[in-house]
Amino acid sequence: MSGTELAGRHVWIDGALEPADARHLSAFDRGFQLGDGVFETLRARAGRPTELAEHLARLRRSAAGLDIELSGSLEADVTQGIAALLAVDGLEGPAGDASVRITVSRGTSAGRGLLPPDRPITTVVIQAWAVAPPPAGHLQRGLHLIVSAVRRDPESPLVGLKTTSRADYVYARLEARRAGGDDALFLTPDGHLSEATSANIFLVRGGELATPALECAILAGTTRTWILRWAAGAGLRPVEGWLVTADLAGADEAFLCSSVAGVLPVTRLDGRVIGTGFPGRWTLRAREAREAFIRDPAGSRDPAARGAESA
Ligand SMILES: Cc1ncc(COP(=O)(O)O)c(C=O)c1O
Repeated sequence: MSGTELAGRHVWIDGALEPADARHLSAFDRGFQLGDGVFETLRARAGRPTELAEHLARLRRSAAGLDIELSGSLEADVTQGIAALLAVDGLEGPAGDASVRITVSRGTSAGRGLLPPDRPITTVVIQAWAVAPPPAGHLQRGLHLIVSAVRRDPESPLVGLKTTSRADYVYARLEARRAGGDDALFLTPDGHLSEATSANIFLVRGGELATPALECAILAGTTRTWILRWAAGAGLRPVEGWLVTADLAGADEAFLCSSVAGVLPVTRLDGRVIGTGFPGRWTLRAREAREAFIRDPAGSRDPAARGAESA
């Protein structure tokens, strides 16, 4: 879904900057062996990470869900690590626009098997890419989604944790590619909308902006939270609930949202046209508002700041 992004020339690993093309991790790392880890991806404009506190809080929640113990200094270490990485890769200047990934694996284990060793030492990695604009087609014609054969279970204790075990998501994205689509949408076992492979979904109908509730097996997206706040100020009624594919197919417009890709229009579901078949005006307004916030989080267009001012 995202455009072609250029990887930075360095990675930050456990406090040190290394060349991106060097060999870095142990073959015994459980992140590599088992997908036993957690991660976050965020955007950094002009060297300023967007909503870093929210991402670090979610990283802690994901790690706690898997009993991965994080260092007390993780927040300070990662904050410094991001700054160092963006600086060394020249992504921190006024025009700098980067996507940043923070990955924490449980660490290495010399033994085999699923249970972790007694005192594993986590591996913390930060990577950065220069953000490329989305392919023109994504903004002009919108994304075409297919419904994945993979279901998301609201009862699973892993739902809502951003773990590095991503086989389901890779599988779904491959399904979309095979079907000629741009991304795949997950449903719950009883057919309710959940989310896309790396984004939350919204639909506009009448004066309402609707999105699957947190109970619908979704990741609690930081952008989703921001969009819900923005909607109220922009004149749309935000609604979180249980939605089905007919709601999406019958919507006036629809969009996906995530930290790195921002807001992207959705115009087809399994070949059926949504709304006019072109990106809708609310979608484009949401995209512009979110990009303005990323450029200038303290600006008056931040819905949280505006709410605080008028309180
Ligand atoms: C499965 C999934 N849902 C939703 C999101 C959107 O979350 P955020 O807005 O915090 O980037 C992501 C982000 O990568 C994701 O992987």
